Amino acid sequence: MTDRTLLILAGDGIGPEVMAEVRRIIGWFGENRGLSFDVSESLVGGAAYDAHGTPLTDETMAMAQEVDAVLLGAVGGPKYDTLDFSLKPERGLLRLRKEMDLYANLRPAQCFDALADFSSLKPDVVSGLDIMIIRELTSGVYFGEPRGIINEGNERVGINTQRYTESEIARVARSAFEMARRRNNAVCSMEKANVMESGVLWRDVVQEVHDAEYPDVELSHMYADAGAMQLTRWPKQFDVIVTDNLFGDLLSDLAAMLTGSLGMLPSASLGAPMANGRPKALYEPVHGSAPDIAGQGKANPIACILSFAMALRYSFDEGVEAARLEAAVENVLAQGIRTADLLQSEGASPATTTEMGDAILAALDSSL
Ligand code: IPM
Ligand code: MG
Repeated sequence: MTDRTLLILAGDGIGPEVMAEVRRIIGWFGENRGLSFDVSESLVGGAAYDAHGTPLTDETMAMAQEVDAVLLGAVGGPKYDTLDFSLKPERGLLRLRKEMDLYANLRPAQCFDALADFSSLKPDVVSGLDIMIIRELTSGVYFGEPRGIINEGNERVGINTQRYTESEIARVARSAFEMARRRNNAVCSMEKANVMESGVLWRDVVQEVHDAEYPDVELSHMYADAGAMQLTRWPKQFDVIVTDNLFGDLLSDLAAMLTGSLGMLPSASLGAPMANGRPKALYEPVHGSAPDIAGQGKANPIACILSFAMALRYSFDEGVEAARLEAAVENVLAQGIRTADLLQSEGASPATTTEMGDAILAALDSSL
């Protein structure tokens, strides 16, 4: 018996391949660290659509609400491009985020020393980079009403609504300030207060929460476009960035690429604490389903493995074990083991997904 429960939703494309490596890592912690997990599994995205005609069944939604942490692989693929909007694989993921109320999306962008040369930016701009983007995940233009495509006169009009309540802004601001206190104590909040009322409110509420509850944390504000520029110019000026759902989507991809590969970066989406004190939580790699390389053993499992490390830290309060797993990944990279996405030269022969998993397990063994 264990009181740690996980739901694995491997999803589409490379999702199942990278998740297979995570399963082995989970097993390792059970065997070697006495951390056993009760793991259940279900379908999401295109895989769920193929089996059940919906990207997320009510049963799977209910399972997700029950567990300590959901581990998600990736959703989507060209096969589903022509489906009605409500049936697209992405809707499965958005439903999980919304119904679990996972409002704080933690997206670290960390540059591993061994990969500093791999970034498209100069090594001195990115080496040692360690920033945390906190993206609001359950509101904003992704979910605001009204939305849709309507007819107006003789043409169609596409409509989405950016909408934020004070409480939605305040709670994600608190997540950012709490995170900053665990890190380098600085938060930069990004919006477009120069053009959007929702941005004006965002800036005001972040400032109010700061002044009332976190005056010890250094707070700055930036327009999101300038933020994008500063992120590419000198990313090391930032510690924690807090921003809305859409800006966070863009800025986190930008930040991810600073580090060289989307295949490296994990994420955590956290909500309010459950009865057992653990937050509602979903962990997933920042990368997508990469249908072009699916099923070929080429995918980099590191982002998904590091997402499990985040689960150890944020859901199970096992920061030491999370650091052990992160160190194992770093160790493997330092040994020069690379999946195809991390190789620049044509001639070099890449490690397969499984070989990368093997190497990380071996590094874990040697950490004992
Ligand atoms: C992400 C993705 C998702 C998003 C898609 C798959 C719905 O881009 O997690 O960043 O836009 O939020
Ligand atoms: Mg995105």
